[in-house]
Amino acid sequence: MVQGELPSIPRHVAIIMDGNGRWANERGLPRTVGHSKGVEAVRRTVEAAGDAGIEFLTLFAFSSENWSRPQEEVSVLMGLLRRFIRRDLAELHRSNVRIRVIGERDGLQGDILPLLLEAEETTCNNTGLTLIIAFNYGARDEIARAVRRLSVEVEAGRLKAADVTPDLIAAHLDTAGIPDPDLIIRTSGEERLSNFLLWQAAYSEFVFVPQYWPDFNRELFYEAIRTFSARDRRFGGLSPVAPAAVAG
Ligand code: IPE
Ligand code: IPE
Ligand code: MG
Repeated sequence: MVQGELPSIPRHVAIIMDGNGRWANERGLPRTVGHSKGVEAVRRTVEAAGDAGIEFLTLFAFSSENWSRPQEEVSVLMGLLRRFIRRDLAELHRSNVRIRVIGERDGLQGDILPLLLEAEETTCNNTGLTLIIAFNYGARDEIARAVRRLSVEVEAGRLKAADVTPDLIAAHLDTAGIPDPDLIIRTSGEERLSNFLLWQAAYSEFVFVPQYWPDFNRELFYEAIRTFSARDRRFGGLSPVAPAAVAG
């Protein structure tokens, strides 16, 4: 029924979940309350993505630049991630959701990395929605890590510089094997990528939603998908209707 309402479903939707702090500020609450509310929006969004038949949903949870926030806010965000995995993993697993994590893993402190690995391992054979959590993620860092790994291969003589192609680079990114996002949504009215999926976003459609992330819901999500469905994606070519215009 949901699919009937949404004509062309993007295979992969990526979301920059922004505006938690402003949502809280406007209510005279600490920023961290906005982050807690944001977790509820995550639950709603994952459910709505599954119901719509989306195959891949990437959520930008914490950027490599977010470490520069005050220590107290960072530790609240870490706590929320921990709690989300501890509380929601079983339910996500029951819903056949497969979890993948992208971002730099080296240097993560305490139990965060073991929890992320547990989420990936527990759900690795699931066949429903793939939920990709971008955590400690920065696209420039991701690309640099990929280039470094390829350079090691070249230095060792196992790879020729001439054989470095876009496909080979893509296969060394954290998103290896995941199709590029068709649609990138950013909430809160900001219109920038903030170092998110720079490589993968080459032909993504962007939808900017004015609402703050804690207010994001199924209706706003499906409206963004409908906006996406009405877009003419040309990938550098011509739209399907154009050839007649130039024929003869
Ligand atoms: C998004 O909300 C959550 C994270 C970046 C972790 P913000 O915390 O960026 O909220 P604003 O943009 O300051 O309102
Ligand atoms: C991007 O939001 C990162 C996440 C949503 C996790 P930010 O709030 O960190 O981005 P800027 O600082 O406004 O560019
Ligand atoms: Mg922000």
